[in-house]
Amino acid sequence: TQHSLILTEQHGRVGLIMLNRPEALNALSDAMGHEILAAARAFDADPGIGAMVITGSSRAFAAGADIKEMAEKSSVEMYQSNWFSVWDELARVRTPMIAAVAGHALGGGCELAMIADFIIAADNAKFGQPEIKLGVIPGMGGSQRLTRAIGKAKAMEMVLTGRVMGAVEAEQAGLVARVVPVDSLLEDALATAAVIAGMSKPVAMIAKEAVNAAFETTLAEGVVRERRGIYACFATEDQKEGMAAFTEKRAAEFKHR
Ligand code: HXC
Repeated sequence: TQHSLILTEQHGRVGLIMLNRPEALNALSDAMGHEILAAARAFDADPGIGAMVITGSSRAFAAGADIKEMAEKSSVEMYQSNWFSVWDELARVRTPMIAAVAGHALGGGCELAMIADFIIAADNAKFGQPEIKLGVIPGMGGSQRLTRAIGKAKAMEMVLTGRVMGAVEAEQAGLVARVVPVDSLLEDALATAAVIAGMSKPVAMIAKEAVNAAFETTLAEGVVRERRGIYACFATEDQKEGMAAFTEKRAAEFKHR
């Protein structure tokens, strides 16, 4: 595939997307967004891929949307081009995606990390929504996803002051799943993704959809969606295999992985 702002690799059943614009601390240009979306969609469509990792460098996951690209845009240009909508498309990709975050995850970088299904943070990770210092507000979902992740008090403080949160606080606040040493971040994220990729892919997709329903619906409606999901699992060979393997005291050999 043709891309210049990212690198992709396949590690067994795990697809790896590496942001590769070091001279701009991985600032997320529109073109980069489209490259990330295309790569994620290709992995999503590949039955040989069961999970993805998205990562940056040890210095920066991404230091935000590309400020230089946006600076002179008019409101109408942003509106007409549906600027940032590429990130809504990324959030609709169904294969589980882990964000492996080291260094700066600011503005759009923090928002991209939150679009992933969960975040594994290096001990040097720094999360923030400093848009207000630029005279704007988050535009890739940050005001919504950060608030849902860490609650109103901390989200409001971060969005209104631009304060940056370190990895330990981010873990305590529920923004990240785990904190690991920066040197083992990628290895840890790939190993975690490999665990997911060892499961049945359709079942993992159904599981992701069920958890995401918690952010979109009432409790009763969310439980209904979960129930539809588990009934659908019983239509897969992998449910039969998983439960048979348990009974027979052996490892499951899922067909759809
Ligand atoms: C474009 C960026 C950039 C960005 C860094 N760079 N962040 N370019 N957009 N978001 C560029 C710098 O201009 C510089 O290029 C190079 O990357 C290295 O950055 P430095 O600032 O020299 O590095 P350092 O001193 O280590 O500081 C790191 C930093 C700082 C603290 C992360 O770069 C920073 O504050 N960046 C902006 C963070 C931010 O405000 N993000 C939110 C963006 S708005 P040159 O060519 O000068 O060497 C957003 C949402 C938009 O994401 C939604 C509303 C429209």
